Order: sequence, then structure tokens, then C-alpha cells
Amino acid sequence: MQTVLTSDPAVAASILRSGGLVAFPTETVYGLGADVFNADAVRRIFGAKMRPADNPLIAHVGDRSQIGSLARHLTPSAEVLIEAFFPGPLTVVVPKADGVPDEATAGLDTIGIRMPRHPVAAAFLKECGVPVVAPSANLSGRPSPTDWRSVNEDLGGRIDCILEGEATEIGLESTVVDCTGEIPLVLRAGAVSVEELRGLLPEIRVYRPRHGEAPRSPGLKHRHYSPRARVLVVESGSENPGADAAFIGIRRPRPGFQLERICGSKEEYARSVFAFFRECDRLGVSRIECEEVEDSGIGAALMDRLRRAEER
Ligand code: TXA
Ligand code: MG
Repeated sequence: MQTVLTSDPAVAASILRSGGLVAFPTETVYGLGADVFNADAVRRIFGAKMRPADNPLIAHVGDRSQIGSLARHLTPSAEVLIEAFFPGPLTVVVPKADGVPDEATAGLDTIGIRMPRHPVAAAFLKECGVPVVAPSANLSGRPSPTDWRSVNEDLGGRIDCILEGEATEIGLESTVVDCTGEIPLVLRAGAVSVEELRGLLPEIRVYRPRHGEAPRSPGLKHRHYSPRARVLVVESGSENPGADAAFIGIRRPRPGFQLERICGSKEEYARSVFAFFRECDRLGVSRIECEEVEDSGIGAALMDRLRRAEER
């Protein structure tokens, strides 16, 4: 398959409307989009990404008026979060409307909805005129793509179009909040921090699957964000790291790393980490030491991704 590269949102949207798969930039990471109401196109997303069929997709809207076609109803906590954080890096999980094909939500009766604030995403979604389901535009298990070249590396030849934009501003995926129950639950940490959410919904909790329990968010049980290299979360870079080791963090490590990335802030660290993982893979690095950061603000999301990359 020939993948069209374009920077014109209207060209990309016309490919999506005719049933194609289109990768597009958002403020978090690049997404791989399909028309939510086209079940065949939605099914093809899972094939292109090699994504497990039980992992539901997030529906992206360009306008709040589209939420009604996706959600059966909005719970009070969902209303609060939509009011405060749409458009932005936050996904609300709410009861799904009957018209949404089961393929989009992997058979669940709930649906994740997000309205990106990125101007290219907003222009693209507006031109599409329908909600767009989009997981991150990487091969399943690989680090999420934060620039269009990373999308091309994983999915070039497997999808219909890449809408080119700049490298993404946040670099980690959206905060996901399950708003279906009495008590809202943070299913995935992201740029909208738990502290911010608690300011509006004091009862909110951070979900942690109990031992042996099936996780609330199917994505939580799959391997994620992994470069081929071994990831280690460290307090500081080790003394004799060896020739094929890399370091990313805020404080400069002791000398000896083949590749170093020193970031000026937690935000820059979050923005850079997935692209750094990919660079390490291209260079054949075998170990990546990642400096631990404080668990507040974007630090919680960053530590979540690092721990998961370390886990496998
Ligand atoms: O920032 C983002 O959220 C990016 C951009 C493209 O918007 N998208 C993204 O999608 O990260 P994906 O598919 O890579 O991750 C979606 C996560 C998964 O962990 C999935 O299990 C969870 O959201 N999710 C989606 N729908 C859900 C639902 N109905 N109930 C529980 N979890 C859900
Ligand atoms: Mg993903």
C-alpha cells in the first residue's frame, strides 16, 4: 500500500471519509484515525497496528456537539471534566451510544472520548465531520510516536495517509478517567494531573488493579512503550555503564554513556522520552538508564510510562 504524506488537513480528511486510515498529530502523541461509524475501517486499525482485539479505542471529536452521537448519556463527573478540559489532553470514559459499532470499543458498553486542542488535529477533525477513533499511531507495544517520521517508521506502507505536523508538545498520551461509576477513576496518568482533577472532583481515585482482577482498562494489561533495549529506572546514571548504554534524565550522569539526553525540565523529559527510545533502538543501544523524577504533575505520567517500559 502506498501511504500518502500530506500537510493538508482537507486531503487527509477526504481519505478518512472514504474509509481510509489516517495518522494525525495531536498535542499528546500522533493518532491513527478511522471514521468511528465505519466498522470495516475501524477493524483495519487493529490489523495495521497489530493491536490485540480486546483493547478499545478513543473517539476524537472536533466539536462538543458530536459527543451526543457517541455517549448514551453523560454522568455528572463527565460533564465537569468536559467543561473544564475539552479541548485538551484528557479522555473521559462514559456509557456508549447504540449507534457506535462494537469494533470501536472492543465490545465494551463504554467509550472513551477526547477533544484534542492541537490546531492541526482540530482542523482535520472539523474537515472529517465525523468522530474519529484513534489509538496511538505506533505498532502495538512500541513507544508512541511523537513525530511523523516515527509514524512512518512503524506504519508506512500499512496505512493510507500520514498528516504531517510538528513534533508533539506533551509527548505522553492523554489522562484517561472512567466516569461511569459513582466515584471517577483515573485509569491512565497524563498531562492533566491527579492534583488538577482532584481540584474539581475531590472524590476521584487512581485506579490500581487488585491482584488477579481483570483490569478496568484493557490497555493496562498489554506490554507497552517498549524499546528493544532494556529500560532501567535509576536514581542517577551508573558509574561504569558500558559501551552500549544510554541515559536520559535531568541531572548529568557520570561519563561513559554512548548516548545522553539531558533535559531542562520534567516537561522536556516527557516530551523527549519516546523519541529517545526509538533513537536508542536505531543505534543498537542495549540498556537505557532513565532517571527517576518526582511523582507530581507530568512526573506521575512519566514515571508510569518508564515503569511500564521497565517491566517486561
Ligand atoms: O493521547 C491519547 O490518548 C492518544 C491520542 C492519539 O489521542 N491516544 C491513545 O490511544 O493513547 P491508545 O489506544 O493508545 O490508548 C487508549 C487507552 C488504552 O489504554 C485503552 O485501554 C483505554 O485508553 N480505553 C479506551 N477506551 C476505553 C474504555 N471504554 N474503557 C476503559 N479504557 C479505555
Ligand atoms: Mg497506545
